[in-house]
Amino acid sequence: MKLITAIIKPFKLDDLRTSLAELNIGGMTVTEVKGFGRQKGHAELYHGAEYMVDFLPKYKIEILVNTEDMDNIIDIIISSAQSGKIGDGKIWVTDVDKIVRIRTGEMNENAI
Ligand SMILES: Nc1ncnc2c1ncn2[C@@H]1O[C@H](COP(=O)(O)OP(=O)(O)OP(=O)(O)O)[C@@H](O)[C@H]1O
Ligand SMILES: [Mg+2]
Repeated sequence: MKLITAIIKPFKLDDLRTSLAELNIGGMTVTEVKGFGRQKGHAELYHGAEYMVDFLPKYKIEILVNTEDMDNIIDIIISSAQSGKIGDGKIWVTDVDKIVRIRTGEMNENAI
């Protein structure tokens, strides 16, 4: 089992949500975050204006998946969130040791 974490531009969330709805994902978590990448937030455009601050608004997406679904979901995130401009974000994957569905006590793959 894996946790896919993606940082995306806020205006890409709807596209991503629509694309993921066609897949059989169990759920997702979206958090409003702020961050910067290697340009340190300086030269990036946001809503057409250059942001003169270090931190830019982003969304963090978290999706628990079966390992065999990981590559497919990463491909979908890339194709929905890519504008080709700086600041498009990043995706990383971590191993997950245990998942529990609180209502039923189901575990691991059965809890996704
Ligand atoms: N090394 C990192 N560690 C943690 N979060 C990161 C890292 N790099 C980027 N992020 C997060 O992703 C967001 C978008 O990063 P960004 O796309 O600007 O990365 P980049 O490496 O500068 O790539 P690009 O050159 O395409 O802009 C940042 O605002 C931050 O929230
Ligand atoms: Mg950047």
